[in-house]
Amino acid sequence: MSRGISSSVNAVAKIAALSFVLLSLARQCYGQLRPGFYTGKCNSRDFDFFSGQITSTEENVEEIVTQKVAKEFARDPTLAAALLRLQFHDCFVEGCDASILINGTSSEQQAGPNKSVRGYDVIERIKGALERTCPGVVSCADIVVLATRDAVALASNGNVRYPVRTGRRDGMTSLASNVNLPSPTIPVSQSIDAFQKKGLNVTDMVLLLGAHTVGITHCGFFQDRLYRPDPTMDTNFREFLKTRCPQDGSGSNNPVVLDQGTPMSVDKSYYVQIKRGRGILQIDQDLATSGLTNKMVFELANGFDFAFRFGQAMVKLGEVEVKTGENGQIRRTCAAVNLL
Ligand code: HEM
Repeated sequence: MSRGISSSVNAVAKIAALSFVLLSLARQCYGQLRPGFYTGKCNSRDFDFFSGQITSTEENVEEIVTQKVAKEFARDPTLAAALLRLQFHDCFVEGCDASILINGTSSEQQAGPNKSVRGYDVIERIKGALERTCPGVVSCADIVVLATRDAVALASNGNVRYPVRTGRRDGMTSLASNVNLPSPTIPVSQSIDAFQKKGLNVTDMVLLLGAHTVGITHCGFFQDRLYRPDPTMDTNFREFLKTRCPQDGSGSNNPVVLDQGTPMSVDKSYYVQIKRGRGILQIDQDLATSGLTNKMVFELANGFDFAFRFGQAMVKLGEVEVKTGENGQIRRTCAAVNLL
């Protein structure tokens, strides 16, 4: 009799242990990014006048993002540059949780390095389209990463395509005082440390700085290099840049493209330029001269599969300190935390 009781107690304990394991496994899977997280989750509702019934149609979230990005890109082909920088500045502060999109007098947007970040409005328009289709389903954090991927594909003529896992949740904190992004004069070794703190190694860093293959900076960020002058800069190039950025500082807001080769295209040209002493920001040029990174720069300039490897690094950047599962929330509008 007592043997019977003890064996059934054993069985109950085993079932309890198994359920615990299964439950934690389920929770783990639930709390992780995965490909196609939104499949089956976004259903649009319509009223059918003939039957008098509400109908529900499954929508493809990623397709909606892709189509919206294509329209925005057609209007403004500098979109890839805007979104690449926006994703970097989002992911490096509080993780990829769209905290950079929150408005407020002391939110991340107010921090110095974020003042010239562009593309907030584009993400909000895509969010608007998704909220009209299936409210409360798609996070702003996922939209940032998906839209950047699509813009990069367009700006690279389809050469740079990478798979994005989804399931990010939106953050609820956005403070300018939390923004601690590398400055353009950061030494390479310190930049390596900053990336390492985010789980990105030196190879990832060199690849991600390759995002400076598109977009612009302003004279104020680098013009001291012209008049010191910085010996690592090509002399003819320096003279050319002086015409854009006069010494008296009157042109400190003048835009200058970061990749003087193919400024509108996501490709390996950035590495070719910095190898030739035509890097614009100090950190760009230092990548080509520092013993810690110059080998990789040479390899990439010589065609070492930039398209694929840049995509891989973007995937890693997009997974920095993400919030998933029960963490964070799905904001109704990207510019504000849901209060209720
Ligand atoms: C050490 C790391 C980095 C530093 C110091 C840095 C610094 C800067 C600076 C100073 C600008 C110009 C801002 C202005 O003139 O308004 C800029 C632009 C840009 N950055 Fe970076 N950056 C870094 C890494 C990255 C990464 C990892 C990405 C993306 C993956 C990125 C993407 C961009 C893009 C695309 C632009 C042009 C933006 C536009 O045209 O609006 N940067 N960066």
